[in-house]
Amino acid sequence: MSFVFLSCSKTRADRPIITDSSLCDSVIVSYANDIVPILQNNCIGCHNSTFASGGNNWESYSEVSSKVDQIICAVNHNSDCFSMPRFADKLEDSLIQKFECWAVQGSLNN
Ligand code: HEC
Repeated sequence: MSFVFLSCSKTRADRPIITDSSLCDSVIVSYANDIVPILQNNCIGCHNSTFASGGNNWESYSEVSSKVDQIICAVNHNSDCFSMPRFADKLEDSLIQKFECWAVQGSLNN
């Protein structure tokens, strides 16, 4: 029985922060004003057009928007993807939420 309980809590901890998309209703996330600065401050050094780690160039809106699920996995340090930013602390929850709400709102180029 305790095995079942433990595996449940691990799954829970592995999930993104936003499990209820209505939590994003009050915040409209902007790609230009919210997402780009987070990427510039934490990711672009290793993920740009000339040095695209793992083949990922986060200077490109089309790449960021098409791979946003992978980004959300990585910044949450989920077990089924590499943890990002690499060799650095996990992003603050408020920044991780920006990615999640941006995705919930359709990953717009806004
Ligand atoms: C110090 C360099 C570095 C930084 C900073 C960095 N990455 Fe990465 N990233 C990598 C490397 C290298 C890979 C290729 C996989 C590996 O070898 O770890 C990668 C792979 C990825 C992947 C693919 C993960 C997978 O499982 O295939 C995603 C998504 C990603 N990075 C997102 C980000 C995001 C978002 C940030 C900023 C919050 C970031 N990275 C910051 C180096 C970095």
